[in-house]
Amino acid sequence: MSVLHICGGRPLEGELTVQGAKNSVLPILAACLLAGGPVELFNCPQLSDVAAALDILRHLGCAVRQRGHAIVVDPSGAEGSTISEAQMHAMRSSIIFLGPLLARTGQAHLTYPGGCELGARPIDLHLSAIRALGCQVEEGAGGIHCRGRPVGGEICLTIPSVGATENAMLCAVGGRGTTVITNAAREPEIVDLQRFLNTLGARVRGAGSGTVLIEGGRPLTGGSYTIMGDRIVAATLLSAAAAAGGHVVLRGVDWRHLAAVLGVLHQAGCGIRSGEDRIELEREPSRPLQAAGEVRTAPYPGFPTDAQAPVMAALCASQGSTWFEENMFDSRYRHVAELRSMGADINVRGRLALVRGVDRLRGAQVAAADLRGGGALAVAAVGARGESILSGLHHVDRGYECLEGMLRELGADVHRETGVQSAP
Ligand code: EPZ
Repeated sequence: MSVLHICGGRPLEGELTVQGAKNSVLPILAACLLAGGPVELFNCPQLSDVAAALDILRHLGCAVRQRGHAIVVDPSGAEGSTISEAQMHAMRSSIIFLGPLLARTGQAHLTYPGGCELGARPIDLHLSAIRALGCQVEEGAGGIHCRGRPVGGEICLTIPSVGATENAMLCAVGGRGTTVITNAAREPEIVDLQRFLNTLGARVRGAGSGTVLIEGGRPLTGGSYTIMGDRIVAATLLSAAAAAGGHVVLRGVDWRHLAAVLGVLHQAGCGIRSGEDRIELEREPSRPLQAAGEVRTAPYPGFPTDAQAPVMAALCASQGSTWFEENMFDSRYRHVAELRSMGADINVRGRLALVRGVDRLRGAQVAAADLRGGGALAVAAVGARGESILSGLHHVDRGYECLEGMLRELGADVHRETGVQSAP
């Protein structure tokens, strides 16, 4: 087991380029199954979720090569149509392979992705979208069995689900006819997926607007594409700078993709300046953060659920109280107990969490229970007095490429210790 040793109390100073977006590279890797030739991807983050996606592509018969942040996928040999339970469970969003796999082979056999630390992860919207495209979907104890060649149709999502929007787009691109997706998710990662697909010769329009139009059945080529920057990693690092105080500059992310987060950090008293490919945050360490009133998570462009934990961690040490309302997932306050062990004053009732600011948190031994909760505990630790030891890094490494390296680049006192015996 590995742990992070984080000595808090030092203001953060520095500049870095943020990693490529996990939630963009994963659907784009699945989309490679639709390509008509080799695909070169750049700015791919080195994460365990990415490794799991590459394993699935290899299992299906793709040739895959990864060199640093560049990945080449050649789908020409991909004839498989089954994804094993172990592979489906190795990555939370493995269901994203359903649409492209069905479009490529005319069948797809996979198991339920399983729940996760955030609570149930239903896939009913994914399956109803596949059915709306004319394919058969059988569900049973053995898993999900889909057959048929997708044809154009109308898909109206009852929830603007990111994954269901992506699955519908990928299945429709590979099918014949025109598809309209209404109440589609509007996240920037959906726009990145549209851009990637159109690079291969697809004709997808409207991503980001809530209504996506797909002209399916066009012959696709190979191509090359650079993954967008990770707005949630940026939100995490900015929250760390807010917690510790100091002055940081992040590059490689469009500030508009995290405008709701920047608004809350500004309301909390941070100085924010953003420009082309640059987000700057400054907080005088002697001036405490202010409470931010109410923070409600919502689909994009609302406040992102993935930034709820990191921002909450920063606001634990502030003047006044902040209400959080988590509207996207049932169980996304698992970082609260650990923050309390660092001295935070937080009360949770259902979807609501009331954070009463304290002067300062204190270092403690804490364990990540999920990906963004782990990022949040690192945020709290850099602002806390004394040393913290953060375990549960297998959650953190799913979405942050060397979190300790990023924090160190911004001046934090943090290192990873490997080979630690887990507590009996
Ligand atoms: C994506 O998950 C992200 N993951 C999540 O990021 C993110 O939190 C989430 O979108 C919301 O923005 C990836 O992109 C890989 P949803 P996804 O479908 O697609 C319900 C992280 O930390 N729903 O938009 O699974 C669902 O239960 C991860 O990087 C259904 O009811 O999220 C949830 O309440 C965590 N039926 C809501 O919709 C369905 O068929 C939004 O989920 C699908 C979803």
